[in-house]
Amino acid sequence: MCGIIGCVGRDDGTLETLVHGLSKLEYRGYDSAGVALTGPGTGLDICKRAGEIDDLRDGLAGRTLSGTVGVGHTRWSTHGPPTDENAHPHMDCAGNVAVVHNGIIENYQPLRDELTRAGHTFTSDTDTEVVPHLIEDALEGGPDPEEAVRTAISRLDGSYAIAAVVAGHEVVFAARNDSPLVLGIGDDALYLASDVPAFRDYTDRVIYLDDGEFARLDGAWTVTDAEGTVVEKPVDTVDWDPEETGKSGYDHYMLKEIHEQPRALRQCLRGRVDELGGAVDIGDLGDLSPTGVQFVACGTSYHAGLYAAGLFRAAGVPAQAFLASEYASGVPPTGDALVVGITQSGETADTLSALREARRRGARTMAVTNTVGSTAARECDHAFYIRAGPEIGVAATKTFASQLAALNLLALATAGGDARDIVPALRDLPGDVQAVLDDSTAPAVAETYEDAPAYFFIGRGLHYPVALEGALKMKEITYKHAEGFAAGELKHGPLALVTENTPVFAVVTGDGELARKTVGNVKEVEARNAPVVAVTDGASDVERYADHVLEIPETHPRAASVLANVQLQLVSYHVAARLGRSIDKPRNLAKSVTVE
Ligand code: G6P
Repeated sequence: MCGIIGCVGRDDGTLETLVHGLSKLEYRGYDSAGVALTGPGTGLDICKRAGEIDDLRDGLAGRTLSGTVGVGHTRWSTHGPPTDENAHPHMDCAGNVAVVHNGIIENYQPLRDELTRAGHTFTSDTDTEVVPHLIEDALEGGPDPEEAVRTAISRLDGSYAIAAVVAGHEVVFAARNDSPLVLGIGDDALYLASDVPAFRDYTDRVIYLDDGEFARLDGAWTVTDAEGTVVEKPVDTVDWDPEETGKSGYDHYMLKEIHEQPRALRQCLRGRVDELGGAVDIGDLGDLSPTGVQFVACGTSYHAGLYAAGLFRAAGVPAQAFLASEYASGVPPTGDALVVGITQSGETADTLSALREARRRGARTMAVTNTVGSTAARECDHAFYIRAGPEIGVAATKTFASQLAALNLLALATAGGDARDIVPALRDLPGDVQAVLDDSTAPAVAETYEDAPAYFFIGRGLHYPVALEGALKMKEITYKHAEGFAAGELKHGPLALVTENTPVFAVVTGDGELARKTVGNVKEVEARNAPVVAVTDGASDVERYADHVLEIPETHPRAASVLANVQLQLVSYHVAARLGRSIDKPRNLAKSVTVE
């Protein structure tokens, strides 16, 4: 989704800092990019291009964009197609004001009509372009630029993270409402961005802006509320290194992040699971004893929600998972229900909106997130961190594994149940994932089936969300048709899609009733001559009906879901790699979706 970078005071190269920041935001997904620079006594220099950062670099070649202050943007189209004109920054008529924006300005049309009537000329289809023109209008009255920017911001409805520069002034102005913005406090320079990786190479000290706040960065930083009253803001320190956002020799971030899962899981479990006694300790959160739990989430996180709801139900606590975008039309929380937003980024608009709706209905809320300081973490009554480390690939991998581990801890600590079996399995999980990574035959499976027109995934119980996630991963990064089904549901319709050309991946572990029934479904598939790939611990006889086997170590069924998912991640990755797809930045997708 759109990304913002701004900086002031980088005497050694404002332009390079901005472009480097944009490259660090690429993972969010985008389709055009641009920068604007200015400085004391100079005009505004701007360059923007549809396409990738390299297209912007091509546009910059041979040009000297100079300035000591600037803003940059990666755009993910919402209003108007990805063209040079629609790329940010946007300017006013006179070319004195440059603005970058994430979010959606809901009242842009009446504002645009009003500005057009007043003689302003628009050059793009975007909602954003009203902002520089509003600033231009406000500047005509002669106030200082800060007043003008504030006046413009006060006219906006909707969600925004906005950064603006005015020609000749060594200041970046920024404002936030419903879209993340964070300041970076360097020794000699100041930064602002929609996400920390944009400036993490220069500083680890950050200030998270809250809704309604306005920031001014010049030689110093000030944060004020909408009325202009200074807000005291804590300066936090981020706890991850810049190297963690590099590829470390892997061809893709996604592959690196798949291989980081043992470490991510160790981080998630550290200090929360008693190695000897088998107890789970998640601090004060363990004192919550909800009478019901509703999970709200999107995409991969929703699959973690389905899994988690199963854990709570197994412990006797009524629980349901909702797609966050559908939550408002679902059943309201009752009694002492806890509404848990599962969100890697903590910034997904649909999930934030569902959590706000839950609060409005009187529920307690919790964010299960990877991102300290994110909007979800700050707005909810409770935050539980999955500690996976930064995830750059658009397709979520290690954060899903860590979500599943964290949600096991949450269920054990708050809903109870017998921890004796699952705790040792969780403790062994990082090593078991490593074993899967070391021995996986997923590359060979990918080679065999790379040309298949469609892929199906089936599982029961806790393996049903894994089947859904396996299919989602395959869709996201291979652009091939893939569907996940509850294994028992296959015969009620989807079986019509199954042919000798469509591989069916079946997750079958243990030898209990669920396994026996899933093996029955596998036989139905085999009888239709479809290739079967069994993801299994070998405890059932599913291998007899399978063309390929992806093995996982025997463990507790809850941990088996995590291990099976690793095999499916690898299959999708290798199919996508063989097809030459844009694995880390799949077409049309964004890492953090900040519009509803
Ligand atoms: C986007 C990403 C998905 C992700 C979903 C939810 O759609 O492409 O990979 O699962 O958002 O993200 P969240 O940050 O809320 O977990």
